[in-house]
Amino acid sequence: MLKDDVAKILISEERLQARTAELGQQISADYAGQTPFIIAVLKGAYVFLADLCRHLTVPHQVHFMAISSYGGRSTQSSGVVRILMDLTESPEGQKVLIIEDIVDSGNTLDYILRNLRTRNPASIRVCTLLSKPSRREKPVPIDYIGFEIPDEFVIGYGLDFDELYRNLPFVGILKPEFYE
Ligand code: PRP
Repeated sequence: MLKDDVAKILISEERLQARTAELGQQISADYAGQTPFIIAVLKGAYVFLADLCRHLTVPHQVHFMAISSYGGRSTQSSGVVRILMDLTESPEGQKVLIIEDIVDSGNTLDYILRNLRTRNPASIRVCTLLSKPSRREKPVPIDYIGFEIPDEFVIGYGLDFDELYRNLPFVGILKPEFYE
């Protein structure tokens, strides 16, 4: 079982669900009367997005970009960010809300923000489920943070190691023997 590879549960399913509901309410209040243009950053954000958008009471569009900065078996960002799949619709004039699973060094988000600003959206805000402030290399603005976490390699709820574990319903720490 995949969950047997987990050394410790950092954020339980119950806490994730409760915080996601809170974020959904807060975002809905902040965007009252508006139609945000959500950009979810694949792959990691898909689980959080699916839960969060069902707590949004405002109409919203959902769009996707796929970005990669980690190698498959690496536990650290390479710092080299690539767009693997771009938006299919222009965000020009739109109230963009970026959805991330985790902001670590900030390199990925910094790249996305710079890239999107050149496309003239009306506004850009950022919502991330997890943030590791101790690892930040680039100062990035984040409007909504689910949880600040310590510098541990986390998996589950969308986050992977070597493309596995994304389906775990909690955020956990992988046993070191799997990546050392
Ligand atoms: C993860 C995560 C963020 C990024 C954060 O993506 O989804 O996009 O790394 O790291 P950073 O702040 O150090 O740049 P990853 O490259 O692992 O791809 P994935 O979402 O497809 O798993």
